[in-house]
Order: sequence, then structure tokens, then C-alpha cells
Amino acid sequence: MSVPTLKQAPLHENTRIMGVGAYRPDVIVTNDDVCQWIDSSDEWIRQRTGIITRHRAPADISVIDMAEGAAREALQKAGIEASQLGAVIVSTVTHPYATPSAAASLADRLGATPAPAFDISAACAGYCYGIAQADALVRSGAANYVLVVGAEKLSDVIDNTERTISFLLGDGAGAVVIGPSDTPGIGPSVWGSDGSKWDAIGMTGSMLDLRELATAGKQGGALSAEEAAVTDAAVWPTLRQDGQTVFRWAVWEMAKVAQQALDAAGISAGDLAAFIPHQANMRIIDEMAKKLKLPETVIIARDIADAGNTSAASIPLATHRLLQENPQLSGGLALQIGFGAGLVFGAQVIVLP
Ligand SMILES: CC(C)(COP(=O)(O)OP(=O)(O)OC[C@H]1O[C@@H](n2cnc3c(N)ncnc32)[C@H](O)[C@@H]1OP(=O)(O)O)[C@@H](O)C(=O)NCCC(=O)NCCS
Repeated sequence: MSVPTLKQAPLHENTRIMGVGAYRPDVIVTNDDVCQWIDSSDEWIRQRTGIITRHRAPADISVIDMAEGAAREALQKAGIEASQLGAVIVSTVTHPYATPSAAASLADRLGATPAPAFDISAACAGYCYGIAQADALVRSGAANYVLVVGAEKLSDVIDNTERTISFLLGDGAGAVVIGPSDTPGIGPSVWGSDGSKWDAIGMTGSMLDLRELATAGKQGGALSAEEAAVTDAAVWPTLRQDGQTVFRWAVWEMAKVAQQALDAAGISAGDLAAFIPHQANMRIIDEMAKKLKLPETVIIARDIADAGNTSAASIPLATHRLLQENPQLSGGLALQIGFGAGLVFGAQVIVLP
């Protein structure tokens, strides 16, 4: 039997980030505001985290609304029409539906239909996971232009009265368009996971917990309508973490991952114009910079002071601000690294648009 040779999509040798967009919601929450709910102080939060304020979205603004705001700016900066997009990726852990995805709705709103659209659940590494996928999609010829959005409404999954994580978190969205390039604009992705620390950060009151609760002593039984109603009303999932475990992992293990991303790109710390780590804690940022021996010429993103930790949105938001405040960085090299619940991590060196 003679089998015809299949055609394959034309490959692109290189990719780059073409434009960055941001959406920062209006409500500013100060440390004093946070201290109404937890036993803490403005001084403690500043010293231990570097956070002064965080932005949070009002009830009528959704993850998709914020993603749309950031995406429209990214498309405009990239000079790309939504109809040219070959894929729409939204990294988020706070779109309140397991299905349908935030990305499908976003693609429709933007006019990108029928582009493939999907969400990534990789918490604070979600944006770097998105870049890894977009880079691969464009290079493989599966898409010409890919929209990657990190969007989070963490205020929806905060228990304001708990002390391990609530005070760190903010809302927002950042977006980029990835497309083909004459020269390499995205270095190899160093990405991975360590599920042995699955419990270090995560949500309480998951459906599984509720089911276990309701079916305790009732081997494998399905929930009755009454039980389901009680459990539905009982717990809304909120975030918790073992801060010290995450802190130590971030400082020790993530500095190694960041170094691997530099090595994979064939550059050294001295070649960087900027360092854009996930905005988790100013002390983690400082420790990583020290371990990487970043020279003073490297500008470090410190968006966390005003934005708090916005999970998947934190790196693109910080990139957007860095370029706004330092337009001379355009065309320079930046090392970006995201890490968080899973645990998961992702890093790459990129050329700033
Ligand atoms: C959460 C975090 C700021 C806590 O800081 P820490 O220095 O590790 O704090 P510890 O848990 O060691 O507690 C130290 C002291 O501060 C107190 N403390 C803890 N949380 C506090 C809070 N929110 N306000 C005031 N005091 C607090 C503790 O009670 C403890 O007091 P003690 O010494 O009298 O017992 C820090 O661990 C962190 O940033 N971790 C990583 C977080 C992160 O990146 N998460 C997201 C990943 S994407």
C-alpha cells in the first residue's frame, strides 16, 4: 500500500514577544485595611514582604473582564488584529468555572474566533508555562500568533481573616502576543513541577474535601440532595499556605532554575538588562538576585510593592510596568521566572519588546 506523504505546517525558527498589555483594577487595599481582619501591622507586612498596597477588583469585574483589558492593549502594542491569532491561552487559577474556559470567552469577546482557546492551571508559574507553550506552538507552525494572558481575581478566593497568605494577594491581568521573529526572542524554557510539595499552597474546601466530609461513614455513597445543598453552601474554597516551606523552596530551588534558564539561553547574568521574577515576596526577589550574582546594572522588577502577589498575572504586569518606567529596556534581555502552587515552576530568558 502506498501511503502519501503528509504535509506539515511550515515551521518558524524563532519567536518573540511582540507587545505587552496590563489591567490593574481600581480598588487599592492598604496594609492598614488588611490589618482590620488579621493580627498584623503595616510595619510587619512591609518588612517581611515589601508589600505596601495591592489592587483588588470590585464584584462586577471578572477574571475575563481583566484579561480582556490586558489583551486589547497587548494586541494594539503588537500591531496584531485578534482575527490573526492562532491560539488564545489564559493562565489562571481564579476563573470560577472548571469549564467552560476563560480563554474561549475571551477569544469570542476579542473577535479571535475560531482560534483554539484554553486555560492553564499552573498558579504563579502559569504565565511562564503559557510562554513555553506559545513559543512551541509558533515554532512548530501550529499557530502564527498566540495571545498569552495571566489573569487572576485572587480576592475571590481569599479568607480575609486568615494570616498565612490573604495579606499578600492582589488582582489583575497581564498579556502578551507571541509571534515569529527573524532572531531568537525567547530562550529555552526551563519548566517543571514538584508534586511532593502539593500541600504547601492550595485551596481549602475543595469539592473532594466536601465529598469526603459528606460521605464519611457512608462508603462510596453519592450525596443526597440535602447533603449536596448543605455542602454547597458550607464552604467556598480559599487559599492557605505553609509560608516558610514555600519561602525556602523559592530561595534555594528557584535560584537554580533561574540559573539553568540563563545557561540554556547561553548567556550570563551580566548580559541581562532586567530580572522579572514572580512577585511573591520582596525578600525572595532580593535573595534570588543575590544568588544569581546580578550586577547592579540589571534592573529588577519590584511591582510587588504596589500590586502584591497576583499569581499568573504578576510577571506580565511587572514587565509592563518595567517597560513603562524604563523604555530604554526595550530590545534588552530579561530573565523571567514563575513559581507557585503545585509546586510548579517555569523560567526563560526573553528579549523585551
Ligand atoms: C508568608 C510569609 C511572608 C511569612 O513570613 P515569615 O517570615 O516566613 O513568617 P513566619 O511564618 O516564620 O512567622 C514569623 C513570625 O511572624 C508572625 N506572623 C506570621 N504571619 C504574620 C502576619 N501575617 N502578620 C504578622 N505576623 C505574622 C508569626 O506568628 C511568627 O511570630 P513568632 O516569631 O512570634 O512566632 C513568608 O513565609 C513568605 O513570603 N513565604 C512565601 C510566600 C509565597 O511566596 N507564597 C506564594 C507562592 S507563589
